[in-house]
Amino acid sequence: MNKARSFSLLLVSLFLCTAHAVAQDRHELPRQRLLADYGWTFTTGDPVGAEQPAFDDSGWRSVDLPHDWSIEGPYDEAAATTGRGGYLPTGVGWYRRSFTLPEDSDGRQVWIEFDGVYQNSDVWINGQHVGHRPYGYVSFYYDITPHLKAGENVIAVRVDNSRQPNSRWYSGSGIYRHVWLTMTDPLHVAQWGTFVTTPEVDSTRASVEVRTRLANDGRSVRRGELLSVVLDEAGVEVARTVAPFTMNAGAEATLTQQLSVVAPALWSLESPTLYSLKSIVLEAGGRTVDESLTPFGIRHIAYDVDRGFLLNGERVKMLGVNLHHDGGPVGAAVPEAVWERRLLKLKAMGVNAIRTAHNPPAAELLDMCDRMGFLVMNEAFDEWTHGKVEFGYHQYFDEWGERDLVDFMRRDRNHPSVVLWSLGNEIGEQHAPGGEEVLAKLVDIAHTEDPTRPVTTGNDHIYADDGATTVEFMELLDIVGYNYVDRWHERRELYAAQDRHEHPDWKFIGTESSVVRGTRGEYMLPDDSMKVRPFYTATMIRPAQLWKFVAMNDWFVGDFMWTGVDYLGEARWPRKNSTSGVLDLVGFPDDGYFFYQSQWTDEPMIHLFPHWNWEGHEGRFIPVLAYTNVDAVELYLNDRFIGEKRVEFPRQGTTGSWNGYAQPLVFPNTADLHMSWDVPYEPGVLRAVGKVNDEVVITEEVRTAGEAAALRVRVDRSSIYSEIRDVAHVEVEVVDADGVVVPESDHLVRFTVEGPGRLLAVGNGNPTDYSSYQASERRAFHGLLLGMIQSTGEVGQVRVTARADGLESASVGITVVPGEGPPQLD
Ligand code: GAL
Repeated sequence: MNKARSFSLLLVSLFLCTAHAVAQDRHELPRQRLLADYGWTFTTGDPVGAEQPAFDDSGWRSVDLPHDWSIEGPYDEAAATTGRGGYLPTGVGWYRRSFTLPEDSDGRQVWIEFDGVYQNSDVWINGQHVGHRPYGYVSFYYDITPHLKAGENVIAVRVDNSRQPNSRWYSGSGIYRHVWLTMTDPLHVAQWGTFVTTPEVDSTRASVEVRTRLANDGRSVRRGELLSVVLDEAGVEVARTVAPFTMNAGAEATLTQQLSVVAPALWSLESPTLYSLKSIVLEAGGRTVDESLTPFGIRHIAYDVDRGFLLNGERVKMLGVNLHHDGGPVGAAVPEAVWERRLLKLKAMGVNAIRTAHNPPAAELLDMCDRMGFLVMNEAFDEWTHGKVEFGYHQYFDEWGERDLVDFMRRDRNHPSVVLWSLGNEIGEQHAPGGEEVLAKLVDIAHTEDPTRPVTTGNDHIYADDGATTVEFMELLDIVGYNYVDRWHERRELYAAQDRHEHPDWKFIGTESSVVRGTRGEYMLPDDSMKVRPFYTATMIRPAQLWKFVAMNDWFVGDFMWTGVDYLGEARWPRKNSTSGVLDLVGFPDDGYFFYQSQWTDEPMIHLFPHWNWEGHEGRFIPVLAYTNVDAVELYLNDRFIGEKRVEFPRQGTTGSWNGYAQPLVFPNTADLHMSWDVPYEPGVLRAVGKVNDEVVITEEVRTAGEAAALRVRVDRSSIYSEIRDVAHVEVEVVDADGVVVPESDHLVRFTVEGPGRLLAVGNGNPTDYSSYQASERRAFHGLLLGMIQSTGEVGQVRVTARADGLESASVGITVVPGEGPPQLD
C-alpha cells in the first residue's frame, strides 16, 4: 500500500461512519452525526449526585475521549485485577459533558452512541437515567429525545469496573472508544438498520440485496419512498431502486430491495474495493428526510469441505493472527493510527486474517480491515454461562447475551472483511452438560441476523482427557474451530487429520495456536552449549510443524496464531504484559515475525539472528539461524565461508512431477523451515547471501556493535492530520559510531516535542518495565524505544527530539496538515 493511501485511511474510516455529505451546510442536512469526543470532565471515585446537571464538577479533570484511566497506573503487585489486568488500577469513574443542540434541532430524533465503555456503564441526560450496559466491548446507543431541552444539556456517565477480576486480560477502564450524537427526522433509517448482501457475484454482474429497517418515531402516519443508491469507490452512482412505504406512528418496518451492479470491482485481499449504499428516505413531494451511507464490498465467500475458504471462487488460506483490543502504551484508548501502523506491519509479515480475541472490536478496526484487505473472524465472547474469572461476563450472559450478540452483529455485518463469526472462545459449555443448548440458541440468533456467514467457536478441549468437547456441540457449528489442535495425544503430530477422517462432512479451522514464547531481543546462551540448545533456536519448531500441516491440507481453512502483537495483562509479576506476540507491545518485530514472513510472503527476505555481540564467548559455537523464503543461503563470518544451507517447502513433486518440476530442483539439507549454522564466535560481520535458482537475490548482515554513540530516529508518517488527533510513531534506535544498533543498550531516552503536537505515550516492549507510559522519558529495551506523537488540533510543524546522556541526539519533523475530521458536537 502506498503512503498516500494509508494516510487517507484514517480520515476515510472516520468519515464513512459519519454517513453524510460534509460539503453541505450542516443545517440543511437530513441527518447529522457529530463526534462527541472532546471536552469532557472526569474523576475517579463515586461522588454522590454526579448525574445531576447542577453538580459542581469544576474540580474534575478535563479529558478527551477515547480515554482509559487504568493505563495511567500506578502498577501494584497487589492490584485487584491481578496479573490478568497487568497489575493496573480499575475502580469507578465518572464522565460529564455539557452541550447545546444545534438551533434547528426542534422535533428531531436524537440518539447518543457509545462505541465502547468498559464496563457497567450508566448514562444520564439532564439527570434522567437513560440506560445501563454491562458488557464493556459492545457498542450501544440510547434515544435521548424525550430528555433534551433547549439550551444546555448535560450528559453524565458512570463507569463501574470495580468488581475484580472480571477479565483474563487487560481491559482498561472508561469511555475508551468514540461517542457520537446523531440527529435525524423522526422518520429515519434505524441505527444499524441497513443490511447489504451480495447473493450472486461474478465478474460481469452482482446482485445486491438491501434490507433496510425504517423507524417512524413521530406521532403521525408517514408515507414516502426509500431510495437506495449504490455508489462506486469514486462516488459515481452505479445502481438505484425505490420502494414505497406507509408507516404508522411508532412503527418499524423492514424493506427489502434488489439491485444489480454491472461489471463489479470485487472486494479482494489484493484489491479491496468498496462500494457504498446511500439510503435516502423521501417523503411524498420529494423532500429528503433522512440519508445514510453504508460502505460494503461486492464479494463472494464460500467454505468448502474439501477446498477450505473461497473468496470470489478462489482458494484463500487464512494466514491469521489473534489480536486483543489494547494498543500497548495507550491502553484501551487506541487512536486509529496505532492500529494502522500495526496492521501495516502485519500485512508486511504476510498476515491476511485477524481474529478479534475475544470480544467485539472497535468499529474503525473493521473499517481498516475493509480498506486494507484483511479477513476477519469477528468474535463475541470469552464466557457464556460458565465463568473463567469471578466477575466475568458469565454474570451478565443470561440477561444480556442475546442482546449483545444481536447488537454486535447488526453493527458489523456490512463489513466485507468479516467472513466468519466466532460466538466464543474456549467456552466452558463446549464440554459441560447442556452446553449445546446454549450454543444452539446463539447459533440460531447468528443465522437469523446474518444468513450469509458461518459461525464457529474456538474450542480448546477437542479430545481433551479432562473433559472433551462434545460431538453434539461441534456438530452445531458451521465450522469447527480448534484452539491448540496439537494438545492431545496423536494430534501433536496429526493435528485435525483424524477428526477429518471421522467427520468427513465437517469444516475445520484453527482458531488459535502457537503461542510464540520469548521476548524481543532477548538471547541467552546456556552454560553448556553441548548439552542444551539456546531457547531461541527452538521457539518456532512447533509452529513450523503446524504450518506444514495447515499449508498442505486445503480442507483446513487456515490458522490464527497467538498473537499478532503483545498485549497488556495475562502476565505474572514481574511481567505486566504477555509476550506471545510476533510484534512486541510497541510494534517492534520479534524473530517469530520473520518466521511467518518467510512462509507467507514471496519478496526475497532473510532474517539472520541472534545479534553478534558475544564478548567473552570467543571461540564458542553459537547457533545462527535464518528464516528465509529463498532457496539457499551462504553464510560468511568476516568474509570466511561458513557453509551453504538449503530449504525446500513444499517438497518438490508437490508442485510438479518426477523429472518435471515446476521449479528448478533444490537439494535441501534439512526438512526444517529454518536454516542453521553453528558458528565459532569472533566479533565482526555475519553475512548471509541468499539465492534463488542459484542467483544472488538478497544479502543480509548482522554486525558486532561497538559502544553506543548516538540515537537514530525514524517516523512512520511525516505528515499527520490536525483535527482527528492523529498520531505518528517515532522509532528510536541506540546505535554505535557506524550506525549499528547496540543490542543490549538500555539508555534512558528523553523526548521533547515542539509545535502543535504532544507526546501521547512512550514504550519499549519490555514486559518488566514499570515506568509510566505517560512519562517523557523511558529506557531503551535491547536498543529500541518508541514515542507516540499526537496532533493537538492545530496545523504546523512538529519537531521531536530524542536525547540520552553521552549520546548524540536525533530529531525528526512531522508536518501537521489540515484534514477535516467528522463534524463535532460543540
Ligand atoms: C488460550 C486463550 C487465550 C490466552 C492464551 C494464552 O488458551 O484462548 O485467551 O489465554 O491461551 O496462552
